[in-house]
Amino acid sequence: MIRPVLRMGDPRLQRVAQLVVDPRGEEVRQILADMRETMAHLNGAGLAAPQIGVDLRIVIFGSGLVNPRYPDAPPIPPTVLINPQLEIIGEERQGGWEGCLSLPGLRGWVERHMRLRYRGIDEFGETIDRRVEGFHARVVQHEVDHLDGILYPMRMREFSRFGFVEELEAAGAFA
Ligand code: NI
Repeated sequence: MIRPVLRMGDPRLQRVAQLVVDPRGEEVRQILADMRETMAHLNGAGLAAPQIGVDLRIVIFGSGLVNPRYPDAPPIPPTVLINPQLEIIGEERQGGWEGCLSLPGLRGWVERHMRLRYRGIDEFGETIDRRVEGFHARVVQHEVDHLDGILYPMRMREFSRFGFVEELEAAGAFA
């Protein structure tokens, strides 16, 4: 079922989400079905359970295809990550444009860690353990932030590079 995505200002987006006890359970299966359908419907790059009002540490991201919202970014495999853990690799950081389904129509420039290792469990109980960089690392940091009540504007330092997609596009910000 396509679920409404909560928008910034809703206090449910600011909670620290709970650990999932049974990743293979029926509750998680149903939540993931709704998350996948909602993300696909909105062409999102990723979605975190709190964005549909579910207070659990579950994120999904990647489609295996180039995302029309980020045409220059390499495809990310479709991934389910339950109870994720991040480990930053190195000091390097990189700025990039981010959007979020909880802030429709907006984009902002956010600095993120360039490289990281992430671990978690999928809905079959299998361990996921990857080292990634660049856009893939950015998406993971953005989605896992949702589980700690953090939205990307809370990571921003340059508010001159924050605005509505159409205006930023017209101003050549993404060129
Ligand atoms: Ni988001």
